[in-house]
Amino acid sequence: MKTAIYPGSFDPVTNGHLDIIQRASTMFDKLIVVVLINPLKTYSFSIPERVDLLSRVTAGLGNVEIDSYDGLLADYFKQHDVDVIVKGLRATSDFEYEFQMAHTNKDLNPRAETVFIPATANTTFISSSMVKQVAMFGGNLSKYVPSIIHEDISRKLKREFERKREEAAKKRGLDD
Ligand code: COA
Repeated sequence: MKTAIYPGSFDPVTNGHLDIIQRASTMFDKLIVVVLINPLKTYSFSIPERVDLLSRVTAGLGNVEIDSYDGLLADYFKQHDVDVIVKGLRATSDFEYEFQMAHTNKDLNPRAETVFIPATANTTFISSSMVKQVAMFGGNLSKYVPSIIHEDISRKLKREFERKREEAAKKRGLDD
């Protein structure tokens, strides 16, 4: 039985991630999608929120599990019965960063092999931060995230944007 993990921030999950999840789930017996932390990023959604969104959009995929981990991917790999790491590549610009991560993971755990799946052409421009910007300004998310989570993403990000605007206005008031 071959088990793969698909790690990422998923802040939030997009149609681009779902494309990789659906295709990887046909290549392996089991696919574990793991929400991890990139310490250099600030996130809009909490880990339980990101896990919930992922669980809902993958509910129809019988061999896909969702998990989260607060630590190194190489250690998650060690602690679970996993064979391979799956990552999506959208463009050559992803390559350098992904190549570095693949080598670092293998250096930390020599068993941790990474395989890359090219993103489907119509998802190559999608990213979580692009989705967040569109949602914050009330734009149409229908082409970028699965329809069952549109509402939740829009509501949460509009609220966050309003809060940031209020904080900025207050700060400007204090500075005057
Ligand atoms: N379709 C759409 N978007 C995609 C995509 C795809 N197929 N593949 C990647 N992306 C986007 C993501 O949405 C994300 O966009 P954003 O920057 O706007 O949020 C961006 O590409 C990067 O995605 P991701 O691969 O998830 O990178 P990340 O930096 O957010 O997360 C972790 C990387 C979490 C996997 C990595 O930091 C990690 O393993 N952390 C654990 C600690 C660790 O082991 N660190 C050492 C690793 S070398």
